[in-house]
Amino acid sequence: MIITIDGPAASGKSTAARLLAQKLSASFLDTGAMYRAVTLAAMQASVNMSDEDELLSVIRTNKFEFSVTDDEMSVRINGIDFTEQIRTPQVTANARYIASCPNVREKLVEMQRQFAASRQKIVTEGRDQGTVAFPDADIKFYLVADSAARAKRRQADLRAGGDDQTLEQIQMAIEERDKSDKNRAVGPLKPADDAVIIDTTDLSIDGVVEKLLSCVKEKCLKKN
Ligand code: DC
Repeated sequence: MIITIDGPAASGKSTAARLLAQKLSASFLDTGAMYRAVTLAAMQASVNMSDEDELLSVIRTNKFEFSVTDDEMSVRINGIDFTEQIRTPQVTANARYIASCPNVREKLVEMQRQFAASRQKIVTEGRDQGTVAFPDADIKFYLVADSAARAKRRQADLRAGGDDQTLEQIQMAIEERDKSDKNRAVGPLKPADDAVIIDTTDLSIDGVVEKLLSCVKEKCLKKN
């Protein structure tokens, strides 16, 4: 069983996907962590972020390992744990170069399919999971929320990590990422035609998970 959850930055996908996976005893895949890992490796190698061949060589010459421990995606590059370092604002800002490189996307989608192939049940989240990576997924969700609500959530997360940015700064960065996610030529952010769209603006995370779970139950009942 494959469940995809796509949506813009800070729409609550990651936490919702993780909790839904827990409830369904399914595996969880945070595909943003993959883009972040390649971004960090590219930054470490000081490659030209606009050069597709150089970015591809980053994938070829580094060993990336993704696993789920304590319900979090952990990331190792060449055997070293970089789970925390892939979340820095610099990595977040540079990830758009990796995300808009077609050949890199192709490789990452391949890795995502391999990850899913060895698992019975998976909840996978990102931008293109229902549209490109798993067009035949059993259930597809697309989460949305207005950018002011998303900025508030992101600010709370950042504050918890000791980073104090203004709401305006955060909302502007989120809106820029939306633009870059929606307008890239490959794997753009958009709902699959058969996705269930859920607006999380006024929902708590528990409320989101409840909605997802009830849709899953309803769809499973219909199938059987
Ligand atoms: O979800 P996130 O913020 O961790 O994603 C990090 C970056 O990766 C962001 O620039 C969007 C991109 N991404 C993507 O293009 N496709 C995915 N399936 C997942 C993430």
